[in-house]
Parts: sequence; structure tokens; C-alpha cells
Amino acid sequence: MQLFLFHIFSNFSPKDLKNLNSLLSSFRWGCVLPKKSTISIIKCDVGSLAGHHIVPKPLFDIAEKKLERAVKKGIINNYFVFNAGDDLELLMAHEKGEQNKEIHKLAWETFKECAQKASQLKLYAAGQDLLKTAFSGNVRGMGPGVAEMEIEERGSDPIVVFAADKTSAGSFNYPLFRIFADPMNTAGLVIDPNMICGFKFEVIDTKENKAIVLKCPEEMYELLALIGTVGRYAISRVWRASDDLICAASSVSKLSLIAGKYVGKDDPVMIARAQHGLPAVGEVLAPFMHSYFVQGWMRGSHWGPMMPVGLKASKCTIFDGPPRIVAIGFQIANGKISSADEGNPIIADLFDDPAFAVARREAMQNACMLRNMGEFEPARLSAEEMEYTTIQKVLEKLGKRFKPIKQ
Ligand code: F6R
Ligand code: MG
Ligand code: MG
Repeated sequence: MQLFLFHIFSNFSPKDLKNLNSLLSSFRWGCVLPKKSTISIIKCDVGSLAGHHIVPKPLFDIAEKKLERAVKKGIINNYFVFNAGDDLELLMAHEKGEQNKEIHKLAWETFKECAQKASQLKLYAAGQDLLKTAFSGNVRGMGPGVAEMEIEERGSDPIVVFAADKTSAGSFNYPLFRIFADPMNTAGLVIDPNMICGFKFEVIDTKENKAIVLKCPEEMYELLALIGTVGRYAISRVWRASDDLICAASSVSKLSLIAGKYVGKDDPVMIARAQHGLPAVGEVLAPFMHSYFVQGWMRGSHWGPMMPVGLKASKCTIFDGPPRIVAIGFQIANGKISSADEGNPIIADLFDDPAFAVARREAMQNACMLRNMGEFEPARLSAEEMEYTTIQKVLEKLGKRFKPIKQ
């Protein structure tokens, strides 16, 4: 028994040993549970070049250096830094679990350093999403967006991370529904016996700060009744119903609700797991074959067509958009993003493909149609959604000038 305990304890670093929770979760019924890996994507608008357009190189360089140092210190196993328009995206692989203080602190400090550099360079809206001054253990509720997934690695685990700019959390409701609940999108729901049991969806009510879990196909209509209201409800997690295998996680923060005023849209991130009893990567990407409408775009106040783009085109231009989404594909192996021999993670830029040209063309056609309508609904968001934007100030001023109509 002594030898057995020595074997278990010798697998933990001194830091782990301090953490009783982590110890207990690894030691159950006298046996060591399979090792878990965590994928964290944490993003923040720290300031951008030429308006709210793109993250410039000096900020990338800081993020790369910071995360490289964190690898050397053993905080994370490896990482990939990219951008979705004006949002700096830190994709990190580690074994510290979700909502880990050290990981969140690393992201927070990276964003702070980048924001300082952005200030020095007088980049636009430096530190835009850093809504709090002091770090308090978790970046949730402080401005940056987070999606995290702790997994027990399967034999081979293909992952797709999505990041969108000039839109909000609810804009992943439509693709997540199509991927995990719609047999017209995902053939596997009909063909693969491992998926026929369906999937469970956690939906967050961002206004009331409540969550509900609904199971498809049984509760598909109830799910749609909620998630069609994209400004309020957002799918935060998806599990395979037969064994509760985690399949997707997305960020659901609402910056305006944190800051109490409009400070920029909640450009979202999402992690989806694929293949072998889950939707194939091709099924995960299939909803993006066509463009669809999302809230955001100019001043976070308009409906705009989502445009899937490769990393090279991950920048917002016309009318600060149109809202764009990138998809990063990779494999997770032994707690790391699978890497080439020289150590660089192997990444697939999935939307960098002519196969998405139709969606891009549709997006621009729809963008033209909407912009022809100017500030008339439905091009502009409904009055209720506008409550969370800067138009409130204009309306308040006018309010005093309204006079009752005499009958
Ligand atoms: C949308 C966004 C931009 C800005 C717009 C005005 O999320 O960030 O569309 O709202 O460029 O920005 P300001 O008010 O900073 O001039
Ligand atoms: Mg910005
Ligand atoms: Mg942004």
C-alpha cells in the first residue's frame, strides 16, 4: 500500500499536492483516473490598429513572449496566438482544469501588457475589454471572453476552435443547433449509432443569469423556442446524451451587463470536439456553408451577415465588418496541441478554403442589402437590443422634448 501511495504521490508536483481537490479527483476507489487535458481559449480586445480593425504585430509579439515564458515555467503545455479582427485570442493547452486561477491570471497579465503597449502606440481603444483594474482569480466577469473544456483524451481528439468578431455570444446558437441537433446538417445524427441518443444543451439566460439543460431530439422545439432569441439566450455547453461526453463549450459573457453601458460587442469564442461518435469536422463546418445573420457589426447595433474567413482575412473593414468568424482545427495529444518536430503547434486554418466562397459571397450580397436600409429596422437592431448601446444617450436627450398629445 505504501508503495502504491508513493507511486501516486510521486506523479504530482508539489503545487498539485497542495490542492486537495485536484488530488481527490485523481484518486478514487483506489485507482488513478485517466489524465485530463484542458483547452482554454481566452480573448480580449486590447486595442487595435486603424480603428476596431485588427490586432497589430507588436501586440502579437508580447502575447507570444508571455505564453512562451509560461510554457517554460510549466504553467501551460503549449499555445497558439491568433486574432479575430480586433480581438487577441490566446489558445492554450494545459492540465490545470477549467477556471484555473493560474491560467486566467496568465491571460489577464498578457492582456494587461498588450494594453499597455497599445496605449504607448496610441492604438485605438487600448484596453477596451479590460473592465476591471485588479485581477480577482478568474477573468470571467472582468471583460475577456472565455471558453474552456476539460477532456479525457480519446485515442485521437480533433478539436475546432471558433472565434468571431463584431458579434455576440448568441451568434453561435444557430451553428451549435445545426451541428448537434439538426440531422439535415449532421448526417451522423441519423447514420452513426453512437449519436442516435442525441445531445444535451446548456442554455444561459444572459439577462436573468440562469441556466437550463435541454435534451435533443426530445426537447428540440423547446430548445429552439429559447435559442432563437439570440440576444438573450446563449448555448454555453453541449454533451453527448448517452455518456455526458463534453462536446462543445462557448463564451457567454455580456460586456454591457458587466460594464453597465455599451463598451463593445461580446465577440464570442467556441470549442467543439469532433469525430468518432461526434459530428465529423466536416459536419461541424457545414453550417458555415451559407452566411446567416448575427447581431453586432457597426457599433454593436446592427444585424449583419456572418462571413467565414481564413486568418489572413480576419479583419473588419466595411461598416466595421461584416462580422467575421475564423475556425482553427487541431489535434490534442497528451495535454498539448499536436506539434511539429520543431515544436510549433500544427494548426489548420479551416475557413481558408474556396469551399466557403459561397458563404462569403452571400455575406456580401446580404451586407449590401442591409446597408441600403441604413438605420431602419430590421437593418438596425430592435429597440430592446439598442437599450445596451450608446443610442440611449441620444434618446434620453430627446425624451425631455416629448409633449403629451392633447385629445
Ligand atoms: C463594434 C465596434 C465598432 C465601434 C465603432 C465606433 O463592436 O467596436 O463598430 O462601435 O467603430 O467606435 P468608437 O465609438 O470608439 O468611435
Ligand atoms: Mg475594438
Ligand atoms: Mg472585437
